Amino acid sequence: MMDYQNFFTSALDRLQAERRYRVFADIERLAGRYPQAIWHSPEGPRPITVWCSNDYLGMGQNRDVTRAMVETAWRLGTGAGGTRNISGNSHPIVELEAELADLHGKEAALVFTSGYVSNQAGISTLARLIPNCLILSDALNHNSMIEGVRQSGCDKAIFRHNDLEHLEELLQAAGDRPKLIVFESVYSMDGDISPIHAICDLAERYGAMTYIDEVHAVGMYGPRGGGIAEREGAMHRIDVIEGTMAKAFGVMGGYLTGTKAVMDAIRSFAPGFIFSTALPPAVAAAAMASIRHLKASSTERQQQQRQAARTKAVLSSAGLPVLDTPTHIVPVMVGDAEACKAACDRLLAKHGIYIQPINYPTVPRGTERLRITPGPFHSNAHIDALAAALVEVWTALKLPLEPKVQAAE
Ligand SMILES: Cc1ncc(COP(=O)(O)O)c(C=O)c1O
Repeated sequence: MMDYQNFFTSALDRLQAERRYRVFADIERLAGRYPQAIWHSPEGPRPITVWCSNDYLGMGQNRDVTRAMVETAWRLGTGAGGTRNISGNSHPIVELEAELADLHGKEAALVFTSGYVSNQAGISTLARLIPNCLILSDALNHNSMIEGVRQSGCDKAIFRHNDLEHLEELLQAAGDRPKLIVFESVYSMDGDISPIHAICDLAERYGAMTYIDEVHAVGMYGPRGGGIAEREGAMHRIDVIEGTMAKAFGVMGGYLTGTKAVMDAIRSFAPGFIFSTALPPAVAAAAMASIRHLKASSTERQQQQRQAARTKAVLSSAGLPVLDTPTHIVPVMVGDAEACKAACDRLLAKHGIYIQPINYPTVPRGTERLRITPGPFHSNAHIDALAAALVEVWTALKLPLEPKVQAAE
């Protein structure tokens, strides 16, 4: 007889042996007190400071957002009642889609249950509907985009990360067949930014459609939080803009924006949209409250940028190997899976600082890191405590520190 359980335990053993087995901390975030939280440690509850949340602006504790969620649940109930094919559109989703279309200056928007599903369903459906489409995909695109490319069944060409020459070579070689370029604005592990206008120039020259993932930028960049494309005046040049409501907007759900025709085609042909229950109305209402707030208020964005810059300066001046990024993402390089996990364990157990280790396959082997995401609610005292804790951990684990330099003011 087959020992089925054995397949699973040996698969897990392999992960353990490669030091890739992931352990999730049991955490209770405290609304109104971010970034403070409670860690349910094996020895009991302990207060901690969270330094790796993708609720980048702390909108998950914003009073208007939480109130919208709770009040809508009281009025409309909890679930959506089914797929939109079965139950129709809940009114908050209709309003949310209008808000999102406006955010990106597009004719229409379509909401999905997550950013992951929006990429997978959006890219695969778009490319499948275009006869003989070639997808040109950045080498560092997120797994949800890779799955969209794979599911489309179309030919693909991978261009080296942010490499315009390579992209042009591939576009040229493709001749005049239909083409779709898929890329991100902010790459979340290295915190770098793509050359959006230059990619759009190439797309225009070679007759390609463009699809951008702004998941790590919406809410945080641009005068109304429309992302890097908004900041750079490029939104109108991109055919489809994808985003999430789960990160800077602090709620949940993904979306696409574009022309009415493209959104209607995806609505009508994408299995990941058609056959899955819609977001609950309370979630849609909370997301809309958050988007509206960030369209009108730049306070959170400015404070996030200020604290991210200060974090980079303080950690660098303490000799920590901070990757210089043009965004709010602050990677501190370790370069070894075991040391990375040990550093995170020690930060949590000894210092009450929570940062999840980033290991392969999320990043290439040898580039393991801590990924720190300062937000508007991290105070200067939090940053100083983080620097002191990291230096203690680096010293205890004999990780290399660079010579100290004078901190920038
Ligand atoms: C670049 C990128 N796109 C899409 C997603 C998926 O978004 P969501 O978390 O809303 O599913 C993520 C991560 O979560 C991401 O990093």
